[in-house]
Amino acid sequence: MRYFIGNWKMFGVPKSISILNKINSYYSKDKNRNKYRVIMTPPYTLIESYSKYFKNKKISIGAQNCYQKEQFSSNTAAVSPYMLKSVGAKYTLVGHSDNRGEGDTDTMLKDKVRYALKNNLKVVFCIGENKTEKKNKKTLSVLKRQLTKVLEKKFNKNNLIVAYEPIWSIGTGKIPTTDELKKTTIHIKKVLKGIFKKNSPAVLYGGSVDGSNVEMFKEIKEIDGFLVGGASKTSKKFIDIIKNYYR
Ligand code: 13P
Repeated sequence: MRYFIGNWKMFGVPKSISILNKINSYYSKDKNRNKYRVIMTPPYTLIESYSKYFKNKKISIGAQNCYQKEQFSSNTAAVSPYMLKSVGAKYTLVGHSDNRGEGDTDTMLKDKVRYALKNNLKVVFCIGENKTEKKNKKTLSVLKRQLTKVLEKKFNKNNLIVAYEPIWSIGTGKIPTTDELKKTTIHIKKVLKGIFKKNSPAVLYGGSVDGSNVEMFKEIKEIDGFLVGGASKTSKKFIDIIKNYYR
């Protein structure tokens, strides 16, 4: 199974549903539709209405983050996994570099993953090195640390997806070389096998993915799909990624 996940970040109002509608029409009719899943993570404000609208349709709706408490707490503006599930979210991202940059620690991330899984959300756990770490050839050790500090064997790996998003690639148009990415993805899968003692969960790539570079990624069979930022905000750009991947 392949995954095409769109992360809208701080984008979207109720009428932006037309973008998802177009993507859903393509997805519903695509002859390859059984080979992949499409998931979109709009901001919190749209999760309930979009989840209702797409309830019996192909696209799944997820959240971009969740708070590290299970149900209710006195943390202003926080949204828990239980609250997300109650409005129809099926997935949540955890550990996006935007949120790590704002102070998410490994301990917080572990609680987020644990409580999200406990509330039957599928988790897309994001990891990735920054520019300096890459320059100092620390990529593999950074990724190993990010994975082993948070993920545990007892977590249900069937509800877990890992997204590798090098920070230097997000929104910059810069992407790793095929060799780099193959090596990194194989490393991530090896670390995951070490944690789960079985097959690895799916591993996605994210960072400046678009319709023009996706064909290059398709050579790397270890990559199970993509987490897309900028190109998920326009139906044509997002559909082009799927079209060109299966061309
Ligand atoms: P871009 O596709 O805009 O580089 O964003 C990637 C990302 O951060 C998705 O979570």
